Amino acid sequence: MRGALAKPASDPAEALVSRAFDPYIEGMAQGEAQVRADDLDAAQLPAVTSLTLTDFRGYAMARIAADARPVVLTGPNGAGKTNFLEAISFLAPGRGLRRARLTEIDRRAPGGGAPLGGAWVVAAKVAGAHGEARIGTGRDTTSDSGERRQVRVDGAPARSQTALAEHLSLVWLTPQMDRLFLDGGTARRRFLDRLVYGFDPQHAARVSTYERAMRERARLLRDGPADPAWLGALEDRMAEHGIAVAAARREVTMRLDEACADADGPFPRARLALDGTVDEWLAGMPALAAEDELRRRLAAGRRADGDAGTCPRTHPS
Ligand SMILES: Nc1ncnc2c1ncn2[C@@H]1O[C@H](COP(=O)(O)OP(=O)(O)OP(=O)(O)O)[C@@H](O)[C@H]1O
Ligand SMILES: [Mg+2]
Repeated sequence: MRGALAKPASDPAEALVSRAFDPYIEGMAQGEAQVRADDLDAAQLPAVTSLTLTDFRGYAMARIAADARPVVLTGPNGAGKTNFLEAISFLAPGRGLRRARLTEIDRRAPGGGAPLGGAWVVAAKVAGAHGEARIGTGRDTTSDSGERRQVRVDGAPARSQTALAEHLSLVWLTPQMDRLFLDGGTARRRFLDRLVYGFDPQHAARVSTYERAMRERARLLRDGPADPAWLGALEDRMAEHGIAVAAARREVTMRLDEACADADGPFPRARLALDGTVDEWLAGMPALAAEDELRRRLAAGRRADGDAGTCPRTHPS
């Protein structure tokens, strides 16, 4: 982090981009050299090879070109490092790294006031799952709230942000997320689910089907007396999708564990495993048997789950 020791620039954001205090941005390809997806080693994919910000927080206009090597951003506090990461986070569906209101991101004078330019835009070239793609995203000023984000892929408007997930899968872990390590399992499962989406886009649908059935069953049990056939149908759905969700999480965890075991470097190697009732079943029996077991436990646990509130005693989500 040598750049952090450099004397602060009068305009830190400008310094970060112009590299007046070299090396604010390390690992960058020199100059404007463009790296084509074909030139990248497949093992190094995915990569963001070019990133242009317009009216994005402190940046009126900023552009960096990079290759598939890791990039380290250094600079004084307030230089705009996290702003850059936030811009990259908009290359995935969702509300971005800071979960900020989109209007808040438009560039303003220090201290606030009216926007100094237009609505913010992030444009990138990525080498992703479908080779090189040009991704554009920004705040849609035509929406009533001004809080909608539009997305273009290779120049064509995408119907929804989920189009982004076909090209890139992004995961971040920021200091604000430290509760992930302290709070209960729900937040950790949600984090793991983001990792799983990257491998298997169907995972999101499975999770939401399971959760819908779980909520519906909880409502029936709470409001009682419930129709046993209706409850049985919901429990079938929970068993089928719940085990599929748990199996997908287990599969990705095992792949990550293998990757960690192969890691070579100065840090101790991490071991990863899932530790839960359903995970134990999946380690010891076929998925169909685990489905039967979950169905049986759900049926047997109706009274207890009705007393307890929302979640079944044994549940993978
Ligand atoms: N909408 C906006 N318009 C203009 N400037 C903004 C806007 N939002 C944030 N900023 C500016 O961005 C700067 C913060 O940038 P950022 O959070 O990226 O800094 P950083 O380099 O990550 O700093 P640190 O080392 O403290 O984490 C602040 O100076 C802030 O004034
Ligand atoms: Mg920061």
